[in-house]
Amino acid sequence: MRRPLIAGNWKMNGSLALVERFAQAFTTAELPAEVDIAFMLPAPYLPAAQRSFAGLPVSLGAQTLHPEPKGAYTGEISGAMLKEFGVHYVLVGHSERRSLFHEDDTAVLARVRAALQAGLEPVLCLGETLEEREAGSTEAVVSKQLAAVFDGLDESERRRLTVAYEPVWAIGTGKTAAPDQAQEVHLALRQRLAQYDTTLGETARLLYGGSMNKDNAAALLAQPDIDGGLIGGASLQVGDFLAICQSA
Ligand code: G3P
Repeated sequence: MRRPLIAGNWKMNGSLALVERFAQAFTTAELPAEVDIAFMLPAPYLPAAQRSFAGLPVSLGAQTLHPEPKGAYTGEISGAMLKEFGVHYVLVGHSERRSLFHEDDTAVLARVRAALQAGLEPVLCLGETLEEREAGSTEAVVSKQLAAVFDGLDESERRRLTVAYEPVWAIGTGKTAAPDQAQEVHLALRQRLAQYDTTLGETARLLYGGSMNKDNAAALLAQPDIDGGLIGGASLQVGDFLAICQSA
């Protein structure tokens, strides 16, 4: 019912050579046909990836977009520009965008709307800090982040989003959420989504992100409400990323 998605988020890392290494690997690798695979690349690599991944079972994604369709926003990139390079997904609300670039819930909703307007699939990232988890506020925090976007969309728009739960304390730390910890939050998110629309609750794709790697991916992906992974560090290693795709 829900196709798994394994997406690599390179953040501000990688190289043209790594794009080519993945293209070569995907040409020969045994990949599960029922799993969607994507790379959220730094923008300069999108043209080369569009060429090198052409015909391969790999989709392109971006890591952010500007909320306006065009204009005097030096250095920014619009959804329409991303579409010109065959981009399908775009991350919105990644914790690094929220903390380092001060994107609050209003800014996140504006970017989700811009992505939908441009015909992209937004991947809405949300998650709690260690302090919020230790205070017992995890479900309240992620529910608020979810509602800040989903309250602002109509039924058809809501069904076009993928959601990624990324506990901030697990990102880049090697401290992965235990499968049952992640499943508990994913189930809570799915129940919230079902309150908008029962079909949404059943069909929404919920990814886990936060130190997922080739050794822990299978146990996380075996959870009933985890429909894939958003992979940072491990997506820069060809063998590790392929192993995660094959364990989905
Ligand atoms: O968007 C995915 C990223 O935040 C997870 O990073 O390195 O913990 O897999 P990492």
